[in-house]
Amino acid sequence: MSHEIFITQAGLAEGAGKSRWPARLDILQSLSGLVLALFMWGHMFFVASILFGADAMWMITKLFEGYFFFDESHPRLVSGVVAGIILVFVIHAGLALRKFPVSYRQYKLIRAHARAMRHGDTLLWTWQAYTGFLLFFLASAHLYQMLVWPQDIGPYASSDRIWSDGLWPFYLVLLLTVELHGGIGLYRLAVKWWVDAPRTVLRRLKWFLTAFFLVLGLATLAAYMKIGFEHREHYGERYTPAWLAPEQEGGR
Ligand code: HEM
Repeated sequence: MSHEIFITQAGLAEGAGKSRWPARLDILQSLSGLVLALFMWGHMFFVASILFGADAMWMITKLFEGYFFFDESHPRLVSGVVAGIILVFVIHAGLALRKFPVSYRQYKLIRAHARAMRHGDTLLWTWQAYTGFLLFFLASAHLYQMLVWPQDIGPYASSDRIWSDGLWPFYLVLLLTVELHGGIGLYRLAVKWWVDAPRTVLRRLKWFLTAFFLVLGLATLAAYMKIGFEHREHYGERYTPAWLAPEQEGGR
């Protein structure tokens, strides 16, 4: 087997001298991945607030808009958080480019290599590369929407988007992709930096976490679809909790 398959841009740079940059970039990639994975856990719970009812999700939305601090909503605060996540996402994706095959020939060689070895962790790596590639597009579309229209987040606004605007298939694919990618990513982080990690325990933990967040995500998506379906005749109308006078602050 040719050693050629291991030659990526990063590999070439490593071979060129004793630069510490490849190691630094590796650490940065791991750190940015960890930040994104931890963010995703929080995100899944916040979005899942809809499972406790429209009021719960409305409160979470308003919390992020600073409503309980400033007595009025500032959706731009959400855009600020999204901008921060976009920055981490771009750094992470940019660094990941170093690991992608740079030609079709390299891609074929890597695939043949992974198949020949039948090595579980190598197969996981290929899945991470495929899902990571998909996330370039899917995550960008979602983040753009959240950045530009943060005022359209809420029990009815989100449900209308998911049902009446027909975005549920998009979210279904995004959910599967990100949970696989994140689960494998965290596992690989543990294996990489925690040298004596017991792999069988880690692998079980990984599947448990992936299954947990998939079930949570699917239940959440189903809840938005149900609300969106029931709300379809009133598309565009925003949610207002019963305990808020309509003239005070329109919910969404
Ligand atoms: C600060 C950045 C983000 C914000 C404010 C945000 C907000 C939201 C909101 C409000 C929803 C509910 C549906 C909707 O309103 O359209 C949602 C759903 C979702 N988001 Fe995000 N999101 C962010 C970043 C991300 C990232 C980086 C990913 C993954 C790469 C992601 C993946 C998902 C998935 C998979 C769903 C569907 C959830 C489910 O079905 O349980 N989000 N997001």
